[in-house]
Amino acid sequence: MNKIWDAIIIGGGAAGLFCAGIAGQRNKKILVLDHAEVLGEKIRISGGGRCNFTNLNTSPSHFLSLNPHFVKSALARYPSSAFIKLVQSYRIAYHEKHQGQLFCDESAKQIIDMLFSECAKGNVLIRHPVIAESISHESEQWVVKTNNGIERSRSVVMATGGLPVPAIGATAYSLDIAKQFQLNVIDPRPALVPLSFTSGEFENLVELAGLSLPIRIAAGSKGSRYGACHFHEDLLLTHKGLSGPAVLQASSYWVEGETIQIDWLGAAGVNGDLSCDEVFNDEENRLKSTESILASVMPQRLAKAFAEQKNLLGRKWAEVSKKDRQVLKELISHWSVKPAGTLGWKKAEVMLGGVDTKELDGQTMMARNHSGLYFIGECVDVTGHLGGHNFQWAWASGFACAHAL
Ligand code: FDA
Repeated sequence: MNKIWDAIIIGGGAAGLFCAGIAGQRNKKILVLDHAEVLGEKIRISGGGRCNFTNLNTSPSHFLSLNPHFVKSALARYPSSAFIKLVQSYRIAYHEKHQGQLFCDESAKQIIDMLFSECAKGNVLIRHPVIAESISHESEQWVVKTNNGIERSRSVVMATGGLPVPAIGATAYSLDIAKQFQLNVIDPRPALVPLSFTSGEFENLVELAGLSLPIRIAAGSKGSRYGACHFHEDLLLTHKGLSGPAVLQASSYWVEGETIQIDWLGAAGVNGDLSCDEVFNDEENRLKSTESILASVMPQRLAKAFAEQKNLLGRKWAEVSKKDRQVLKELISHWSVKPAGTLGWKKAEVMLGGVDTKELDGQTMMARNHSGLYFIGECVDVTGHLGGHNFQWAWASGFACAHAL
């Protein structure tokens, strides 16, 4: 007769390994199964190889979910300060980059190694590559049939993450299991993803690919699934569309068919820089060309593109009518454009949607109607803003679950 595990965790990524280590150290017998040859791949590629492992400012307001209150309990029990303490205890050097984002000084591999060490401390058994073929609940036990035999346990933890980057083994397995047990799943959608455009106003911006600048962006609306957002961050123009932190953040709120609004004057009027009105109304600028006027408040190449778009390239400012000046100001401060779509799962960092939080207990991550079945990490309908919040959710949800096993 096979051993009966306290829990089988399906998915040895951020949430799965973290949960396994804690539960193991609480003397639970834990088996982790993963279908990948190499574990922790998403951690390895995260933060440009340095893993933005948490954020000093993580709070419930940094998450999108149909139930924004769901994250509160788990985040309060395991805040970013707790994970930072763990990182410090492994003497992993880190630094703060921008708005509380913490990155390893050296390599994301240090976080993966730390998770493995935590698992080893808890005598966790990790088997991979193993394919979980089916999961059933029989006579008070969970039965996981794999390509390598049958395993039995008191609990099953689904931690197979979201759909981004299928090339490194992302699957919808947790969502499939949720559906098998009649749990509602909120439609998954790529998030923190670049936006693409077909034509129109975007056409002459394509030539500026590579340009990055601070902007203000707004997307979504009060009535849409996750409400409206405003971010003041950098935007990056690419050959395929718009990217950079500002656009990735806005993509999570953007609703297909709707516009996004960009104020290209993100840096104008701040830190002592001139505001648009100051530049536009300065009599001394009368003899300057339109593009050089615009270049006082934005990068030169962008200024030229906007002047060109309104047929004002080379035109002296004194010759530009009040109405045209107003049109130009509207264009650069309230640029409203309809994205054609996103660059999809290949380029997304996270998944919106997932297992409906209504189905789960926020203290333990257990399915309310299926004792012993848990969902943690990205497969749950909880999606963080850019900046380390998604890993913090993986740690916090894994911690809540580990203490309930
Ligand atoms: P994760 O994806 O980590 O783990 C899932 C595991 O399940 C994998 O090991 C996979 O092999 C396994 N699996 C999948 N299907 C399976 C199946 N059918 N059977 C068995 N095993 C299966 N976040 C952040 O906070 N800071 C950052 O810097 C970044 N950077 C970043 C960059 C890029 C390019 C991406 C794609 C994503 C990020 N993220 C991020 C997001 C972050 O990686 C993500 O939120 C967490 O890894 C989610 O943790 P999970 O454990 O839920 O899934």
